[in-house]
Amino acid sequence: MFAAILLSLSLCSEAVWGVNQEERLFKTLMSNYNPEIRPSKSYSDIIDVHLKLILTNLISLNEKEETLTTNVWIEIQWQDYRLVWNQTDYEDLSLLRIPSSLLWLPDIVLENNIDGQFEIAYYANVLVYSTGDMYWLPPAIYRSTCSVGVTYFPFDWQNCSLVFRSQTYNAREINLKLTTEDNDKVIEWIEIDPAAFTENGEWAIKHKPAKKLLNPRFTEDDTRYQEVVFFLIIQRKPLFYIINILIPCVLISSLDVLVYFLPAQAGGQKCTLSISVLLAQTIFVILIAQKVPETSLNVPLIGKYLTFVMFVALLIVTNCVIVLNVSLRTPNTHSISKQIKHVFLEVLPPYLGMHLELSEDLWEVPQGKQKKDPFDMKVKVEEYVLKTPRSEMMFECERHRHGLKRLPFRRAGHDIDIGTTVELFKSLAHCVPEIKDCVDACNFIAQSTKDRNDVGSENESWNLIGKVIDKACFWLAIVLFTVGTVAIFLTPHFNRPPEFPFPGDPQKYTPE
Ligand SMILES: *[C@@H]1O[C@H](CO)[C@@H](O)[C@H](O)[C@H]1NC(C)=O
Ligand SMILES: *[C@@H]1O[C@H](CO)[C@@H](O)[C@H](O)[C@H]1NC(C)=O
Repeated sequence: MFAAILLSLSLCSEAVWGVNQEERLFKTLMSNYNPEIRPSKSYSDIIDVHLKLILTNLISLNEKEETLTTNVWIEIQWQDYRLVWNQTDYEDLSLLRIPSSLLWLPDIVLENNIDGQFEIAYYANVLVYSTGDMYWLPPAIYRSTCSVGVTYFPFDWQNCSLVFRSQTYNAREINLKLTTEDNDKVIEWIEIDPAAFTENGEWAIKHKPAKKLLNPRFTEDDTRYQEVVFFLIIQRKPLFYIINILIPCVLISSLDVLVYFLPAQAGGQKCTLSISVLLAQTIFVILIAQKVPETSLNVPLIGKYLTFVMFVALLIVTNCVIVLNVSLRTPNTHSISKQIKHVFLEVLPPYLGMHLELSEDLWEVPQGKQKKDPFDMKVKVEEYVLKTPRSEMMFECERHRHGLKRLPFRRAGHDIDIGTTVELFKSLAHCVPEIKDCVDACNFIAQSTKDRNDVGSENESWNLIGKVIDKACFWLAIVLFTVGTVAIFLTPHFNRPPEFPFPGDPQKYTPE
């Protein structure tokens, strides 16, 4: 009796003060619930599963591993008829939070993950509404594959995607859909939560459409038949690469042009300078190689540019060597033909804006003077002097100044007839032996000076040819370098991401 009263009292208090309604509801709902069973009243019922992706952070795109890392919330909604209750029976309780492990889940996974992490990061509770609506918003850090096209690196844009499918349910069991807004508008884009979103320093998001795709290669019974794909079309912010690689590279390469302001004779320094530049450029090549994927399918733009400037540097080194070779040639080692002189000293200079001041003797090709060194010449001159009668030699050399010559002798009071060489010789020898010696010496000096002038003008010709080649290569290098550099800085203008996320589909896939 007492026990019965106690029992009725306790029941009464329960009714009056109330047990936790949530607990009561939970117990009621879960009493017959089997999370393994798909929530369809009949077998043929198809359950609509709505998906929405909320991007909180685009963490990175690893070009080398071709991996996109994103931090997202994936919003999944569906209906479970077994979890419906009458609100009035539970003190207007309209919402219940149930651990996801206790409920049926549509098994949505990221198909194109790269690290075997198909699932979400944290199994959050599912919000269950009295109408049977299920709302689940678990967070996830996804590492998905994204094939990176490096052709325009660092002025590239990439087309990455996140592919979601149900791992176990096919199109006859569940129907994957994009979430619809209250006004029946389908959310065909990745939502960005402005409060949580942090801008990526390297990538700007250009388009973020979402689409449900049907794969006609499979039948509806295949889980691969339907998928919801979220695209991220992102453009690289190239400033980092411009500041850290392109501009230093352009500056260092432009140093190469300075080589041409060194005189042709300083060939050694020219080579040293241009080879140093070449070495500096290899460092940039190594830097780039570390960054881009090891693919031979296409070469990144910056790699092409580096190869190009290295080619120009190589041209300059070759040019230095050739110019050094040419401008230090001597008549003893090389003969110079009239055609070469014509082309390099007459035809080319006007085109290159050069004004060569050519002396007349430049055109006198010294005959039979090749392979002659000063010592050889001296010996020959001495031979000549020994063989020729002194008087004759003097006569030959001095005959132009005949009149002048005559005067001093006349004044000296000697009656000398210079008409005949023998007599002159005699009279000279007789008169002052020192004069004879002096004339000999003068003749020798005159001859060797003339020879040296010939050699000198020949050297000068080679030197001028060297200068002309230098000037020609200077313009070639300047033009090549400028064209290449302008071209690389113009590419971003021509490689913009398309205006619409899907070519041929004039739809923006944005909230507006
Ligand atoms: C909920 O329960 C109340 C009373 O218990 C009833 O009047 C009402 O019709 C029920 N609502 C639904 C939707 O079943
Ligand atoms: C991105 O890739 C998808 C297929 O993977 C393609 O349908 C879409 O047109 C691409 N977007 C752009 C802008 O190229």
